[in-house]
Amino acid sequence: MCRRFRTRFLLTAMLAATASAACVPLDDFMGDVFGRSMRDQPSFDPYENTLLPPEGSIPFAAGNYPAGPYDVNVGQPQGSPDLPPPFTAEDMTERPNLLDDLVNPVAPTAESLARGKELYERVCVVCHGPDGAGTTGYIFEVHPTMAAHPLNGGLAMTRSDGYIYGMIRVGRVLMPGYGHQIAHYDRWHVVNYVRQLQAN
Ligand code: HEC
Repeated sequence: MCRRFRTRFLLTAMLAATASAACVPLDDFMGDVFGRSMRDQPSFDPYENTLLPPEGSIPFAAGNYPAGPYDVNVGQPQGSPDLPPPFTAEDMTERPNLLDDLVNPVAPTAESLARGKELYERVCVVCHGPDGAGTTGYIFEVHPTMAAHPLNGGLAMTRSDGYIYGMIRVGRVLMPGYGHQIAHYDRWHVVNYVRQLQAN
């Protein structure tokens, strides 16, 4: 009886010591002394993908590329002629002429401008403002020293369609990329709409 009590007491004391030592420093200590700890386990981490897609399968929205200008995203058609080669946000800064030869495949029809306006007012307006001035963006009230660059004046006027397309897809410095939210042809609709803002 007494022995069982003592064992239980010991166990409780050990558990309490472990808990009060906080998991992380104790873990580090165990790692230092024994070269491994409970933290390194052959188990899945939170949000880790446990199941890779089968070999050769094509994701639904591969390449973020719908088949036609007003189609929904159904995957990347083979040999798409107007899909640019891969590029990064660093390219937008370091190689600003990289996408100058990209031909805008979408004519600035009323339908395209309406689609571009819808997306611009959903995504870009918060920083660039409804007219593209930058200082009219909603974040300007909160961060007046960090206005987004103007789109309706300045350097943006001299940028090629391809450059604006690239900015939308991958971003640059403080501007995040929106390629995951705005699909290939939709980016061109936004480019057309930015051109309209510049013309006004
Ligand atoms: C979170 C704020 C934010 C959003 C949203 C945003 N931008 Fe920007 N944008 C910026 C900032 C900041 C810069 C300046 C980037 C830099 O520091 O180089 C910029 C730069 C640009 C430029 C380059 C202008 C130049 O003078 O070279 C273009 C083009 C542009 N944005 C277009 C867009 C479009 C189109 C959208 C919507 C799809 C958009 N941006 C959404 C913040 C934003």
